[in-house]
Order: sequence, then structure tokens, then C-alpha cells
Amino acid sequence: MDSRPIGIFDSGIGGTSIWGELQELLPNEDFIYLADSRNAPYGEKSEERILELSIKNTEFLLGLKCKLIVVACNTATTNAIDYLRENYKVPFIGIEPALKPAAINSKSKIVGVLATKGTLSSSLFHSTTKNHAAGITVLEQRGTGLVELIEQGHLQSDELYALLESYISPMLEKGMDYLVLGCTHYPYLIPILKKILPENVTIIDSGQAVARQTKSVLEKLDLLSNSSVWGTHQFFTNKNEKILSNILPSSKLNLTVSFKDF
Ligand code: SIN
Repeated sequence: MDSRPIGIFDSGIGGTSIWGELQELLPNEDFIYLADSRNAPYGEKSEERILELSIKNTEFLLGLKCKLIVVACNTATTNAIDYLRENYKVPFIGIEPALKPAAINSKSKIVGVLATKGTLSSSLFHSTTKNHAAGITVLEQRGTGLVELIEQGHLQSDELYALLESYISPMLEKGMDYLVLGCTHYPYLIPILKKILPENVTIIDSGQAVARQTKSVLEKLDLLSNSSVWGTHQFFTNKNEKILSNILPSSKLNLTVSFKDF
């Protein structure tokens, strides 16, 4: 049993989609969330820079005594998680595009993946495609510009709708029946996606699977908290507290949002 907090980091506010699933499954755990929004997006950066930023975020969370770190960013996972696991003692949970369930269930055998350049060009993504999507046509689409708009808090703008439609339409024309969201910012696009996609196209994201995996690792390593009260949720951002606060639920959760110059 371990009462230390669970750390989460992302290139910005997108990983809060993962935090949402985690806090529902693990309501008695304390969480510390780090939004590196000043450096968003990670998706267009070099592998070296993504690693450097991932190390900086990890050191920050370890300084706050986190017992496990969720790398709530597909781009950071695909480019840095091997290094982090080799060089730090705490367990790391990463996020990979949920290609496997899409490949298993697709009837048209055509699956779309919307992700950043950093994720789509990584060797981890290529090995996932090879291992889990044999016999499937995987349509890879870079979501250039989407993270920037989400980071500005423009979740319903015409600009966002038009950009997203320009990425989705070619995949629909090719017969995609599953769309995998390969970036933790993208679940915030689901309301718009539902307007663009016909009913026969299923959207898949990784949030619930990551939460289940985190719980199972905590159980296995005897790191679950034995608290019986609701956990605390501390959010830090190095850019705009208001945008981060706006995306979080205004619920009874014990939640604080602060600016931190990290
Ligand atoms: C980004 O920062 O470019 C996107 C984060 C992600 O890949 O989840």
C-alpha cells in the first residue's frame, strides 16, 4: 500500500482525457498533472527534443514524490518511454494508439489513425502496426494544427471543424470503418467528429484501457493507496491556467490548478 500520488504529464491539456478515466477508476488516489503547454505541440519536434522534455517532466513529478508516472501523450510515449523505463525506478504507463481492437473489429478492414507526425513516424508505432494490424489497410493521417487549436481552448470553432473534416474525408472515401485517435488531445474532438462521421464509423481512443492498465500495475506492485476518502487532484501548467481550468469538470472533486514555471 502506498499513499504517494500518481503523476501524469502531457504536452498540454490533452492528457486530461486520460486523467478523467484514471480518477473514475481510482477515486481514492491522489493525482498530480503536469501540462507542458508552453512546449506544445510535441508532435512536430525532433525525437531528441521530445526526450529532453519528457525527462524534464519526469524529474518534476519525481520531485513531488510520485509513485508511478502516466505518460499521457502518445508522442512522448512513442519517442521516450523506453528511455524513461531504463533510467528511472518508478513504473511508467504509456499511451499507444488502440490499433488492435480496431483491427480485430473492422469489417471493411480499413482503419484510420489520426495522430501527430512524431507518433506516426516512430518505430514503436510501426511495430504496433506490424504486430496488430496484419491484413488491415491502415490509413495514417497527421493531425497537423489540431493540438494547437485545442491548446487555445477552441473546441467548437469553425476552423477546427474545417481542418478536421479535411483530414477525415479522404479516409472516409477510402472506406474506413474505425477511426483510432492516436493523440490524447483528440478525445476533445469527439463532439465534432460525431457530426462529421457517418454512424457506421466507430471512434476508438485509449483512455479506459490505460486506466485499467494503470490499476493493474499498481495492484501488482502493491502500490495502491488504502485511503477511503476521495483523492486530491493538483494540476500544474506552464502556460494558461484558465484554459486548463475550463477543460476540467466543475465537480465536487478536490481539484486545484496552478501556474508553475517549469
Ligand atoms: C502533441 O503535443 O503534439 C500531441 C500530444 C500527443 O501525441 O498525445
